[in-house]
Amino acid sequence: MNTKNFSRREFLATASAGAVAAAASGTVPVLAGRGKTAGKLAIKGGNAVRTKPFQKWPVWNKSAEKDIVSILRSGNWFRGRGETVTKFERAYADLLGARRCVCTMNGTNALLTAMHVLDVGVGDEVIVSPYTFIATYNVIIGSAALPVFADTDPETFQINPDSIEERITEKTRAIMPVHILGIPANMDRIMAIAKKHNLIVIEDACQAWMAEWRGKKLGTIGDLGCFSFQNSKHLPIGEGGAVIGNDEELMDRVWSYHNCGRPFGSVKGTSRYPIIGTNRRMLEYQAAIGLSQIKRLESDTQRRNENAEYLTSKLKGIPGIATVKLYDGVTRCAYHLYPFRYKKEYFNNAPRQKFLAALSREGIPCSGGYGPQYNDGLIEAFLQSKNCTRSFSKARLDQYRRELHYPGNDQLCQEAVWLSQTLLLGKKRDMDDIANAIAKVAANKDQLA
Ligand SMILES: Cc1ncc(COP(=O)(O)O)c(C=O)c1O
Repeated sequence: MNTKNFSRREFLATASAGAVAAAASGTVPVLAGRGKTAGKLAIKGGNAVRTKPFQKWPVWNKSAEKDIVSILRSGNWFRGRGETVTKFERAYADLLGARRCVCTMNGTNALLTAMHVLDVGVGDEVIVSPYTFIATYNVIIGSAALPVFADTDPETFQINPDSIEERITEKTRAIMPVHILGIPANMDRIMAIAKKHNLIVIEDACQAWMAEWRGKKLGTIGDLGCFSFQNSKHLPIGEGGAVIGNDEELMDRVWSYHNCGRPFGSVKGTSRYPIIGTNRRMLEYQAAIGLSQIKRLESDTQRRNENAEYLTSKLKGIPGIATVKLYDGVTRCAYHLYPFRYKKEYFNNAPRQKFLAALSREGIPCSGGYGPQYNDGLIEAFLQSKNCTRSFSKARLDQYRRELHYPGNDQLCQEAVWLSQTLLLGKKRDMDDIANAIAKVAANKDQLA
């Protein structure tokens, strides 16, 4: 598998194929313990540690077919003519302990909806992590607000709260913490900073279903929380999203806005469309898929956490492999990806790309994750756009360009290694394979040259 320049989605889609490719290069019994790591790396023609593919994703539930076919046959595909989206919203809100949930057609539109109803937009600055899927950048830019990046803490992979405080200006209106890889950001610090500076908090929990901070589900801590149910996600629908919240009036506005501005609950008026709206509705058959997939979410989450803890315990002693640090307040992760850092100084300075290639050939699909995407031209294009130059002074934009340096994030972009969530759905012996393969590459680091 070419691990270079893989997007998260491409990587997730090909994760099991990578192991199959490795299998084609030779057959060996699976190593049982770390003692058996000596030998030739598969990349040098040796036998791969693992030859079996990992779990494919998504996993289809055949018993859902009759419900979906019955919706298709009824012709009631739009939520206005059925009950399925409403049922799914209730089930998801209950699972997360949120008062309300409104589904959208995807996570991007959930975030755009949250931005709109909280009136975060033109001329506002939103503090956000640079270490995220591009959709997070897109929704802020798409709302004509300025994404102001706070640096990343490479040890936790999350937004660094000290850096948030440093980036606040008089135009800062909101913080958008992203619980990236399904690992909680430091919500105690973020909520305290938001309170002190009177800022809105929109949680991008698009990778963090069922993860918890001090026993509270992510997405329920800020003003609103947003989720994605895209194909690779832990509650996969193909496309799908949700906004959750506890404030009834705010959630009435979410509902009304996502449905063309029609009246709903406290959103009343004399016209048929009392508030500005758009159409971001989920479909009935999307929700039927969601209702079938939601059934496995709790047990999958449990398994991913148990396997991640076990894998971490196995990796801890390997020199040059830095496992992720979790904040004290983390009570549960989602592990959309299992991350660790590759410290090349322990590997004769072999570039990470060589490590990734070697590990993939041992039968463990892996990727290097996000790059420093704020340098890719997207941000500069926005800074030059009318939306931006009309709302922000030249002095502010010059300062913004000068401050576009993130040493913590740059370090992480060079050191990160990701394993897909599907690898965590196996048994302990599958985790042993992963640990053995990493240990084998580490023990034979001279072959990376
Ligand atoms: C962190 C993050 N934010 C936002 C999104 C956008 O979600 P969607 O792809 O459903 O629009 C994603 C999806 O991959 C994501 O990972």
